[in-house]
Amino acid sequence: MCGIVGYIGNQQAYPILIKGLQRLEYRGYDSAGIALIHGEKLNVYKAKGKVSDLVSFAEQKDIEGTIGIAHTRWATHGEPNQVNAHPHFSQSEELALIHNGIIENYALLKEGLKEHGYTFSSDTDTEVLIQLIEYIKKSNKVNLAQAVQLALNEVVGAYAIAVIEKGQPDIIVAARKGSPLVVGVGDDEFFLASDATPIVEFTNRVVYIGEEEIVVLRRNKEMRIKTISNIEKTPEIKELEMTLSQLEKGGFPHFMIKEIFEQPKTLSDSMRGRVNVEENNIKLAGFIDNKEKFLKAKRIIITACGTSWHAGLIGKYAIEEFARIPVEVEYSSEFRYRKPVINPDDLVIAISQSGETADTLAAVELAKENGAFIFGICNVVGASIPRNTHSGCYTHAGPEIGVASTKAFTAQVTVLTMLALMIGKEKATITEELYLKIVHELGQIPAKITEILKQDARIAEFAKTFTYAQNFIYLGRGYNFPVALEGALKLKEISYIHAEGYPAAEMKHGPIALISQEMPVVVIATSAGMYEKVVSNIQEIKARKGRIISVVTDGDVVVKNLSDYSISIPDTEECLVPLLASIPLQLLAYHIAVVKGCNVDQPRNLAKSVTVE
Ligand code: G6P
Repeated sequence: MCGIVGYIGNQQAYPILIKGLQRLEYRGYDSAGIALIHGEKLNVYKAKGKVSDLVSFAEQKDIEGTIGIAHTRWATHGEPNQVNAHPHFSQSEELALIHNGIIENYALLKEGLKEHGYTFSSDTDTEVLIQLIEYIKKSNKVNLAQAVQLALNEVVGAYAIAVIEKGQPDIIVAARKGSPLVVGVGDDEFFLASDATPIVEFTNRVVYIGEEEIVVLRRNKEMRIKTISNIEKTPEIKELEMTLSQLEKGGFPHFMIKEIFEQPKTLSDSMRGRVNVEENNIKLAGFIDNKEKFLKAKRIIITACGTSWHAGLIGKYAIEEFARIPVEVEYSSEFRYRKPVINPDDLVIAISQSGETADTLAAVELAKENGAFIFGICNVVGASIPRNTHSGCYTHAGPEIGVASTKAFTAQVTVLTMLALMIGKEKATITEELYLKIVHELGQIPAKITEILKQDARIAEFAKTFTYAQNFIYLGRGYNFPVALEGALKLKEISYIHAEGYPAAEMKHGPIALISQEMPVVVIATSAGMYEKVVSNIQEIKARKGRIISVVTDGDVVVKNLSDYSISIPDTEECLVPLLASIPLQLLAYHIAVVKGCNVDQPRNLAKSVTVE
């Protein structure tokens, strides 16, 4: 989704801003732009397409200046083109603004501004905001920071913004509500960004801007923060855990494949200090501190979007099996609007890689208003969801840059499994024997994933066979049903092949009509859990000449013989199979997309962090 970068200091801003935009490319965007103050001039350059298109456009132009703001836009209001790209000028071209989010009352504000003689060149809600700021600034004769504050009091919606002013080369005014914003604090310089990725190579000291806060960055002075209702705040400097190498491809052709291969390490990181195989124990601080809430919970509601929702489904299976608490898994976008029943003794788990997904954040707020206890499972440290939940647990998968989530998903499943086991142990709803077996097995998972990754070259080879396909079906049962959903999502996200995940037995109620020799069917047929039944489903596909790619357990013969291609994974406990079975499906989707020449890391139309509803 849209990305923001800003800089004020002693260095030339242009290279820092362009580098920052490149770091934000992973979020997904369709145009880019930059504004720089050089002497008396406020230069704005914009281009449709990639950051490289912006760089070509700005070539030979005046790119001097030690203050600037830059943006990658993911179109909401108005098509992706140069006019709609940010930064937007105010009418007098004295102010320039970049904006993430949506101004919901922009139409009303626009009408009012038109009556005051303002005209608009773009279709965006953003242009309305900068015109409003200018109108307020001029009519109230106030400075930029005051004008921004007054304007934001009239705005309904979500935003992270940054504004600069011609003739004022020493100040950037920025603000946020519902859309993230972080300031990097260097030596006599400030960096501004929608997430920490553009900042990490310059400083590890950051300040996360809070809800409805305005930050004023002044050259060679302390930063100042106040709320839009004028309450002064003291900036709280935090240390970034992220490192630069985590943001580079490290020899891999794409971030996605790098992240797939990182999973033995990320899962170890996710379990570090939590799963103690020697002591046969699991300790999750977020659970221990709030044990009573979990033990008293009559129901758990998991809310999430996309891949995180799939992780939530696996979490449901594990929590219901081990902790015997009923679990509902809700799409955040549905949950927040459908007047759900939320009781004070419900416990809500919000899962989000980015911690910024607008719908999940709103679901958290709704559940909070209804008195539920909210537990967050997030990857990005310091993001909005972990800041708005009562307690939680980070997944510690490290920055995920590929839009298609891989390592964050397996880390979410790992955390949910640990949580289910801990609740089960406390409630004595899991036998000591099974608990110990699973804890021991969790410790083996990273090494088992390493084994699976050795089949990468073979999967890459047979992936070539399937680039012709227009449709795929993915089938699984029990814990492997969400794995099928996630496998199908990975394929459609990055290869643009239509793919559907189904519970294997449901195939007879519809999808079987689609099966022909053209139709590849991916079946997860591991030995743990309903193997025989899945074998029957495979026979049904075979009888209709469907092409079968199977994921089986090492040593399997029956399904292997029925399949056109099969990938075997080591045996494990049933609840842990998703952590292994997901890996070949990630590789399959990746290689099909690569052979098809798709932009794997930045698939068309998709955004990494969906900060608008
Ligand atoms: C977007 C991403 C998906 C992600 C989903 C939820 O659609 O492209 O990969 O699963 O948002 O994001 P979250 O950050 O809340 O997990």
